[in-house]
Amino acid sequence: MSGQRVRRSVIRGSGSALPETCVTNAELAKRVDTTDEWIVERTGIRARYIANASETTSSLATLAAQRAIAAAGIAASDIDLIIVATATPDQTFPACATIVQHNLGCNGGIAFDVAAVCSGFLYAMTTADALLRGGNARRALVIGAETFSRILDWDDRTTCVLFGDGAGALVLEAVDGDADDMAAPGIIATRLHADGAYNDMLYVDGGPSTTQTVGKLRMKGREVFRHAVVNLASVLAEVLAVAGMTSADLDWVVPHQANYRILDATARKLSLPAEKVIVTVDHHANTSAASVPLAYDEAVRDGRIRPGHMVMFEAMGGGFTWGAVLARV
Ligand code: COA
Repeated sequence: MSGQRVRRSVIRGSGSALPETCVTNAELAKRVDTTDEWIVERTGIRARYIANASETTSSLATLAAQRAIAAAGIAASDIDLIIVATATPDQTFPACATIVQHNLGCNGGIAFDVAAVCSGFLYAMTTADALLRGGNARRALVIGAETFSRILDWDDRTTCVLFGDGAGALVLEAVDGDADDMAAPGIIATRLHADGAYNDMLYVDGGPSTTQTVGKLRMKGREVFRHAVVNLASVLAEVLAVAGMTSADLDWVVPHQANYRILDATARKLSLPAEKVIVTVDHHANTSAASVPLAYDEAVRDGRIRPGHMVMFEAMGGGFTWGAVLARV
């Protein structure tokens, strides 16, 4: 043992929240020109949750945060950093994170949003990890929360069938330990990327500084699909190389849930058995920044992901942006 000390960001607990209303493909087909067969075959999606008028990104985020705080066995007042990853905030400003902070009653620490669309949760985790290890905060809430139903064009069947609403949260805590302790829990490696040349592949056609409207989601689905598999496989390999591991060392992969075919193709590229990939896209659809923590929380609560497991989180989204985080939980 070298006796050298390191500070790690340890996942203390998780929580999630879904809107009250679940909409199946068959129900959607009553108002959109589509079929259950088409959606299942192309995406693996069978149902999604859609927020009602009283459910907002901040209300879902707050509920997920409260459940994560309870799972961590701490008090809300212990939280001194809140990052909300979202592309659908309640308002242009203030940041959704400040609304959540006020709802939780833990005012005074750091609170801000990150906008990296579907990879937002990976950007938020990486940022929280840096702030915790740098001593800026002690306990963080990292939240992914979205109400994408509010920015969908319900007359565009190529996009509106793909998305849903929800929120997920993790409590991360800064813990000092021995650098040589390979079994210690905590975030091991993170990598983020963006390529703005692909801005027009997946975007919202409005905003405060351009149209002064919120706008609707637009996507070139085939192009997104092609880039997603290549970028995800590459960042996963990059993070494994940083950690000096191979895909055989992973217990679980918790991917962004965009489309079952993307999950499957990415896993194959890395020779990862399908049983190691957490899949919730069938019942959540694509909840953008919320999808990774929603999937993680589900797998923790049903007992699949357990303390000591090696877990890879990954996502790719509009921008393009993509990233991966490796952690022992
Ligand atoms: N229901 C029924 N038919 C539909 C449909 C729907 N909801 N949406 C599109 N179609 C039709 C199209 O009109 C087209 O018909 P045509 O051949 O008569 O013109 C046909 O289905 C094929 O459309 P296409 O867009 O080429 O299908 P695809 O095989 O590329 O699948 C996606 C479309 C969106 C499912 C696929 O491209 C995809 O998953 N892309 C990635 C999207 C994603 O995950 N984005 C988020 C990343 S964060």
